[in-house]
Amino acid sequence: MRLNRIALHGFRNYEDFSAEFSPEMNVICGENAQGKTNLVEAIAYLSGAKSHRARSDQELIGFSRREASIQAEVESRGREFLIHVSLRKQARRTIEVNHVKLKKASELSGVLNTVLFCPEDLSLVKDGAAVRRRFLDDAISQLRPKYADALARYQKLLDHKTRILRDAAEKPSLLSVLPEFDEGLARTGALLIHYRAHFIRRLNSHAMTIAADFSGGRDSLALLYETVRTIEDPFAPPLLLYEQIREHQEQHKRAEFASRSCLSGPHKDDLVAELDGISARQFASQGQSRTIALSLKLAERELFAEDTGSFPVLLLDDVLSELDAKRQDFVLERIRGGQVFLTGCSIPHFERENHRVLAIEQGRLLS
Ligand SMILES: Nc1ncnc2c1ncn2[C@@H]1O[C@H](COP(=O)(O)OP(=O)(O)OP(=O)(O)O)[C@@H](O)[C@H]1O
Ligand SMILES: [Mg+2]
Repeated sequence: MRLNRIALHGFRNYEDFSAEFSPEMNVICGENAQGKTNLVEAIAYLSGAKSHRARSDQELIGFSRREASIQAEVESRGREFLIHVSLRKQARRTIEVNHVKLKKASELSGVLNTVLFCPEDLSLVKDGAAVRRRFLDDAISQLRPKYADALARYQKLLDHKTRILRDAAEKPSLLSVLPEFDEGLARTGALLIHYRAHFIRRLNSHAMTIAADFSGGRDSLALLYETVRTIEDPFAPPLLLYEQIREHQEQHKRAEFASRSCLSGPHKDDLVAELDGISARQFASQGQSRTIALSLKLAERELFAEDTGSFPVLLLDDVLSELDAKRQDFVLERIRGGQVFLTGCSIPHFERENHRVLAIEQGRLLS
């Protein structure tokens, strides 16, 4: 799986830009605020139709522009794809693959997969559960379009239910539609739990091996899935999961009214990491938690390769300089075999055939 060419028009600080890439290592270098992360963001957008740092697509459009586009040539699963994303200030975005307009963004998941690792991810283990849910959601959405669809449905229902709970004090009649939303949330939530449980089990087996390699066999990592309390076994058939979510909803009805927020459902899930049976979030050292975060991302990459038959595009934004020499070497060694984009203010020292250096200055390619 690889990205051969990209062209950006009006995307963030890129007025008119195009570049060709090496199928192996691409080093994007330049001073601060020149557009390195913007380029990585554009590449990641091609896989999930979502930015990892923008709240809306509008932010991606150049300040002085009314529209933006990303065009890309991708080789994937033995075929060639032309992706064309158009973003407009006043209208809906459109995404075309080989000149055919996609009905849903989730259809992109069959084209290009990316794994992104940025400095914020180094605190994946220590941060709140929301960042780990996002990690899970981004990864599973890329592999399973049905998951991406279910997630979008769930989010809509959840937003709606939250509004009802918030406004019900002034307008009690709103509460009459609540059972409908609970029903929908439980049905969709059961699907999310089903996919997450299976994904985490597979992620765990890869992450465990990687973390052990990292520490010379010292660290024994385990990933556990924490979900709705009434669920006894997240691998149970979705119908049973549905019933157990319903039970939890019943138990929390009063508390939801009182707090005016949704307390029940997989939007509270967590991915728990343990080292030697002890919570990493509470007890791991800085270095250990960074290593776990890295192991999770590298495990995600392995899992994608297992599912699709080739490595996803790996995007390492500014992350190498944050690691000590030993971890840098480990990562560089471990990521052989797929296409990589690596950003930084300087060119890292490594011997790699087929690597291309792209120097970026103010949204332009210098070389
Ligand atoms: N919508 C936009 N339109 C125009 N310029 C933008 C837009 N969004 C961001 N920028 C500008 O893009 C510039 C480059 O941002 P980017 O995050 O890519 O820098 P970087 O090269 O990764 O820098 P660093 O090394 O500090 O991470 C910033 O100065 C920012 O103001
Ligand atoms: Mg940056």
